[in-house]
Amino acid sequence: MKILVVGGGGREHAILRKLKESPLCTEIWAAPGNAGIGCDARCKPIAATDLAGMVEFAKQERFDYVVVTPDDPLALGMVDALEAADIPAFGPNKAAARIEASKVFAKNLMKKYGIPTARYEVFEDPQKAMDYIRRQGRYPVVVKADGLALGKGVLICENEAAAGDALHEIMVEGKFGASGSRVVVEEFLTGPEVSVLSFTDGRVIVPMVSSMDHKRALDGDKGLNTGGMGVVAPNPYYTAGIAARCMDEIFLPTVQAMQAEGCPFKGCLYFGLMLTPDGPKVIEYNCRFGDPETQGVLPLLDSDLLEIMLAVTGGRLHEVPVSWKPGAAACVVLASGGYPEGYQKGKPIAGLAADGQLEGEADVAVYHAGTAQKEGGFATNGGRVLGVTATAPSLPEALGKAYAAAGRITFEGMHCRSDIGRRALKAL
Ligand code: AMP
Ligand code: GLY
Repeated sequence: MKILVVGGGGREHAILRKLKESPLCTEIWAAPGNAGIGCDARCKPIAATDLAGMVEFAKQERFDYVVVTPDDPLALGMVDALEAADIPAFGPNKAAARIEASKVFAKNLMKKYGIPTARYEVFEDPQKAMDYIRRQGRYPVVVKADGLALGKGVLICENEAAAGDALHEIMVEGKFGASGSRVVVEEFLTGPEVSVLSFTDGRVIVPMVSSMDHKRALDGDKGLNTGGMGVVAPNPYYTAGIAARCMDEIFLPTVQAMQAEGCPFKGCLYFGLMLTPDGPKVIEYNCRFGDPETQGVLPLLDSDLLEIMLAVTGGRLHEVPVSWKPGAAACVVLASGGYPEGYQKGKPIAGLAADGQLEGEADVAVYHAGTAQKEGGFATNGGRVLGVTATAPSLPEALGKAYAAAGRITFEGMHCRSDIGRRALKAL
């Protein structure tokens, strides 16, 4: 099969490398891809959000299957557009992608079907939202823009003044554009966070190995929220007992709810969970593989990813095996200095071999998130630059290996957290 992966980050690199292991895969492309992905696939510079351009390219090149990975093309309906052109694609259609694209849709779905989540109200008027927050008088309070906001549309407000500022930023100044015309105001929950990615064909759901993201920029979970600075998998807080409860109370009910609403979800459904003192609750859904969770989870997949994806699309997920390697994975993200705020690009990267990997490291993969070719080598080209993943029989070993490997790579201004996995180790 000739496959196209839409997107160009670390997650797409991890998916693509896994797809290449499949005997069914004979040729693989990425659009737009990046310099590191270019070592594993052919790249075509089409923006992931260019629906018409992507469909035209897929027709021209006669792809047998297209894997649509990022949130925005899914929310725009790229899978619908490909299917209309008779090209099978992995990912939810536009109606099902609302589970991520609209927090109001997601919250209302959970309320209607009794899926545990933080208590909330929806507002279109900042004054009414503020009145509600004052009446409740409970802080911190969480204010979320309804639509997609590059992971930055969630504000945790410690007091009334901060809540006022958040509402002003989102609803009056329009910091996130139309995404902020409605907000969700919700109760603040506490507990360890767990990411669970799953495969679902709309009826059957198969969770993947759990993981733990590290969203803040600095050690000790300090600093600004980022796209994710590292991940460990499995997440030791997510015990077999909790997993069973999540299946009964959250995973199956969500898949059934989407079916009942007339928009069955086919693809990778991501559950962002918080293990609260009252049990597991949904913090967010994503309609896609998580980044960087994927870079920690897929290296542990023992089965054929392409076969699983085709079964998801074909509505026959029950027919394929989904099995996992024993052991653990750790991924350390190497970011540009200044990220998630302003940063420079074009810094030469030292330490990588010509294929974008590290020479002589067994069980280590370097996933390229933001790199470009420069003078025959690699240079930085984004906020998150590389994700270094190691797998090992245990989490401490995986962390040791990932950090040792990451230590061989340098570029000017490079920043990474030195405490990825520390919290997870406490739960072992
Ligand atoms: P989201 O974009 O919905 O994943 O939110 C980003 C982060 O904000 C989450 O990973 C949580 O750490 C935090 N968060 C979101 N909602 C809540 C909540 N209701 N209570 C506590 N923390 C939250
Ligand atoms: N790691 C969180 C996300 O992909 O949204």
